[in-house]
Amino acid sequence: MMNTIPKTRIAVLVSGGGTNLQAILDAQKAGKITDGEVVLVISNNPDAYALERAKNAGVKGVVVPKKGRTREDFEKDLVAALEEHGIELIILAGFMCILSADFTNRYPERIINVHPSLIPSFCGEGFYGLRVHEAALAYGVKVTGATVHFVNEIPDGGKIILQRAVEIQENDTPEILQKRVMEQAEWHLLPEAAQLVSRSIRERKK
Ligand code: GAR
Repeated sequence: MMNTIPKTRIAVLVSGGGTNLQAILDAQKAGKITDGEVVLVISNNPDAYALERAKNAGVKGVVVPKKGRTREDFEKDLVAALEEHGIELIILAGFMCILSADFTNRYPERIINVHPSLIPSFCGEGFYGLRVHEAALAYGVKVTGATVHFVNEIPDGGKIILQRAVEIQENDTPEILQKRVMEQAEWHLLPEAAQLVSRSIRERKK
């Protein structure tokens, strides 16, 4: 029986506002994530509002600082926090740090990321946050969107899990477009992917 198998233990990694984290927490509260549970939020940024969101939802939040430290030290602390909490699925939700192969190889198909474009457009190193939408508008594409994918050693290069298109409108600014992509795509896709991957990890424990 599936009910006797513990839910997949999820950590969400954040750096900023945390609206995608909020979408996951809301979906969990609404009973839409039945096979996983967010038990930890990790931020590299001590001032991230996402940490408030974790606190408000009663989820443990920890800061693993990156500034002024080597990649090895940073990732060592990340791994320690993940292991301490028995994490089985890592969700990058606006986490603005690129993870090395040393890190990603530890968690094959156990890390997912949301990216605010239709990969393979406007992705890879240097494409994050508003910059992605600036690039889409500068190029003049008529359709953009969001992608949830597995994370491997290639930035935004892992297998695609879910994708949704969003139309660009005349007079869009990067800020307006960012909000539309979040509302119409990211906030739906990320909780859905969290459930899908949590289920498949849980099923493999049978
Ligand atoms: C989101 O649009 C997310 O897709 C993007 O940053 C924003 C974070 O917002 N992530 C990337 O660009 C990763 N390459 P949030 O903190 O409100 O979830």
